[in-house]
Amino acid sequence: MSNTKARLPQPVASEHIPLKARNVSFSWEKTPLHWLPGDPFTTHTINVLHLLLPAGERWFVHVYKQVLPLIRDERLRADVIGFIGQEAMHSQAHDAVLPHLREQGLDPTPYTAQVDWLFEKLLGDRTLPPGRARRWWLLERVAMIAAIEHYTAFLGDWVLNARELDRRGADPTMLDLLRWHGAEEVEHRSVAFDLFLHVDGCYRRRARTWATAFTALVFLWQRGTRFFMENDPTLDGKAARATFRDFHRSGRAGTLPTTGAMVRSIPRYLSRSYHPSQEGSTAQAVAYLASSPAATAAEARANGAA
Ligand SMILES: [Fe+2]
Ligand SMILES: [Fe+2]
Repeated sequence: MSNTKARLPQPVASEHIPLKARNVSFSWEKTPLHWLPGDPFTTHTINVLHLLLPAGERWFVHVYKQVLPLIRDERLRADVIGFIGQEAMHSQAHDAVLPHLREQGLDPTPYTAQVDWLFEKLLGDRTLPPGRARRWWLLERVAMIAAIEHYTAFLGDWVLNARELDRRGADPTMLDLLRWHGAEEVEHRSVAFDLFLHVDGCYRRRARTWATAFTALVFLWQRGTRFFMENDPTLDGKAARATFRDFHRSGRAGTLPTTGAMVRSIPRYLSRSYHPSQEGSTAQAVAYLASSPAATAAEARANGAA
């Protein structure tokens, strides 16, 4: 292999499949506040997804609808349309958990109001003149989404393989939400990166937006976990802490990703030959979706309606 080729993204063609959205629904009445029994820290660390994803994935869809006219490749256009359908459904499914949290005495509004501001205002459409400035801001956001999708795919792959959550009796409905979503993240893990390569591909932009996205994710996640721990009505002040040590410990226990795996994922994204299809398994994702209670019920409803 020549040096030039080694420096280009190397897609694994067999990992590509056509995408479709699954119109899932979940009922939360039986899900306890600490859906991982006896482990509020892990429960709330993962619960942060319900705070970030509704606004975040709505933002993906908003940005991608603006990029569609720039796509000159029919397969990529179909992938992006499939991605938009899946992300819109993810956003709704996580949003639907919030009333359940409120009923259990954990009102996430103070935090979600900030997240909404971040995605709708700070990362929203700015009043820019048509032309270079507007295109620059669109490409920045496309690159940011590619960086974030590196982590959604990482987390999707992790949760599909996180057997410790089963062993510790995690609530089956919450596990199915996380694994249905995780499996679709693995299914569509290449789309954001392929779109970025198609419309821009500038390595400096990729590295710069990765740094922004990673810093923002760490900051938001830590604040979100603290918010939940401090506002959990069943925890007193002392038990309500959320530190990096707790995160590290849960990683070693297998109930969260390990710190090492997260650190190792950084140089992989920054490698010039990186392509998301090199990580995770489409076959595993498809196999989960074929057995997921929510995804199979959605499929049955879709077939019944057809
Ligand atoms: Fe998603
Ligand atoms: Fe995604």
